[in-house]
Amino acid sequence: MQASVARCKACKAQGKSLMIQVIVFENKRLTYLDQRFLPLKEVFVHTKDYRKVIEAIKTLAIRGAPLIGIAAAYAAALAVQAYKGKKSGLKRYFYHALSELDAARPTAVNLFWATARARAAFNRVYEQSDISTIAKAILEEAEAIHQKEVQNCDAIARHGTELLRRDFAHQLLQRRLTVLTHCNTGTLATGGIGTALGVIKQAYLEGLIEKVFVSETRPLLQGLRLTTFELEKEEIPYQAIADSSAGFLFQKGMIDLVITGADRIAANGDTANKIGTYTHAVNAAFHKRKFYVAAPLSTFDATLSCGEEILIEQRAGTELTSIYGRNVAPQKTPVLNYAFDITPATLISSIITERGVAEPDFKTSLAQIAAETKVLHHD
Ligand code: MRU
Repeated sequence: MQASVARCKACKAQGKSLMIQVIVFENKRLTYLDQRFLPLKEVFVHTKDYRKVIEAIKTLAIRGAPLIGIAAAYAAALAVQAYKGKKSGLKRYFYHALSELDAARPTAVNLFWATARARAAFNRVYEQSDISTIAKAILEEAEAIHQKEVQNCDAIARHGTELLRRDFAHQLLQRRLTVLTHCNTGTLATGGIGTALGVIKQAYLEGLIEKVFVSETRPLLQGLRLTTFELEKEEIPYQAIADSSAGFLFQKGMIDLVITGADRIAANGDTANKIGTYTHAVNAAFHKRKFYVAAPLSTFDATLSCGEEILIEQRAGTELTSIYGRNVAPQKTPVLNYAFDITPATLISSIITERGVAEPDFKTSLAQIAAETKVLHHD
């Protein structure tokens, strides 16, 4: 089914960001925007089937670490809602549904964080409640996760904008900044204003940013298809660039800073994000430019000491060898298609969270945030 993207025009009038409704739970069904068709078509899918949500996460119809977490939480609610058996079989059924969800994608920790929260919500009410009360509790947990992630984005945008004012105080007296971002970290990836893209949107509204360079993000083109789509709607000046051209732009002094999101951040600050992020970080370090990561605490994994412990997803070779369903490489071309890479903490200038900005040494600064917030612990 197609529909036009809902936007909060009033937000723009108030000087706030335009919002796209990427995920909505209403009348016992989940509606999500299928991102595979963007920007050519805005296709909305309605479902009451949690397995359809799993498929959407696997195929990247739903994508971006926070949005994957939100969708997984709603899928957990759909699973209980659809259960027709006796209460005695519910726990086994629900745990199995959660394990199916956990198997959808391996790298973004928000998925496991959300299913752990759904499991905990289930166990809080299980003994004393009937099935419909349990279903209500799981849905309320999903709604709470959704609402909080939207608020987190606003806080990240505020902290990130303050950081730019601090780190670029001198340049900002003369001119506005040019920023490079990778993949898509906006509304489409979070349901809120965005993480890295949220900072960019806010900083633009406050007059700090002149232009955004959007790296295409091969092979699935989240930058070229999705970030450009959002920047168009926000009327923020941008230029799309080939991933491979970023180094040349740094060399020419055309990039002041880089901001990316994250899929999982280890206790020492090592960060897994979309493949190509590490290359941008190396370029930024070589050219003495700031490299920031923006992510909510649901993306932190304090159980992992460093990035080497993060499982990196490998996806089908056809994502690389075919473009819009058309094969462009010799048949049987062997492909190595890592979906993410690890940027070592040593290449990261600051990590922007909803609880403020963490600075190196990240092991210490993140542990401090962890001490203040229990959400860093994934059990
Ligand atoms: O494979 P994707 O499109 O889910 O990858 C998304 C990214 O790598 C994003 O940068 C990350 O999830 C942060 S989204 C706020």
